[in-house]
Amino acid sequence: MKNIVILISGSGSNMAAIARTAQKEQWKDKLGIRVAAVISNQPDAPGLALARGLGLGTDVVHHRDFPSRDTFDAALMARIELHAPQLVVLAGFMRILTPGFVAHYAGRLINIHPSLLPAFTGLHTHQRAIDMGCRLAGTTVHQVTAELDHGHILAQAAVPVLPGDTAALLAARTLTQEHLIYPQAVRSFFAHSAPGAGPN
Ligand code: GAR
Repeated sequence: MKNIVILISGSGSNMAAIARTAQKEQWKDKLGIRVAAVISNQPDAPGLALARGLGLGTDVVHHRDFPSRDTFDAALMARIELHAPQLVVLAGFMRILTPGFVAHYAGRLINIHPSLLPAFTGLHTHQRAIDMGCRLAGTTVHQVTAELDHGHILAQAAVPVLPGDTAALLAARTLTQEHLIYPQAVRSFFAHSAPGAGPN
């Protein structure tokens, strides 16, 4: 069985989209892939209850319990490793990871970022796109590398920026596309990864 560990910090809607697609498409039986655990750095993340409601195991590694990024990342890695994942999925995980963590999971750590990368790395992407007068905004699934929001692009979806848009409206429009492309990107990660990674 090929395990996925999903890391969240908040509402977890992308995590749920992946888990629901996995259930609907019977990834476990047909592809030998399962979401093994959902881990949050925020103990009160609403996504934790959502994950439990979907029948997924959850765990919390609270970043405030650790004195440094290095010690937090080491603890997080130890909890992730309990599931021996083939893929670690960042789904609204709002922590910057240390180079050591990223190197450990090189090639099997992916993220979704709410902009058309390489435009608008970092935070407040929707407001920045509106302020710049962009006609198109969107979202990107990418490999995670040591440089924030810079890894190889695996999937993208564009959405229009409409007259009168607010960051919240644009975020909601973008999120509906994220829920389509992130599960697809996870599926194709396994379809295209090394021998032994999946039946197709
Ligand atoms: C998503 O829009 C995701 O692209 C963004 O946070 C949201 C999480 O929503 N991620 C980032 O901004 C990462 N820098 P969710 O918790 O409902 O999946």
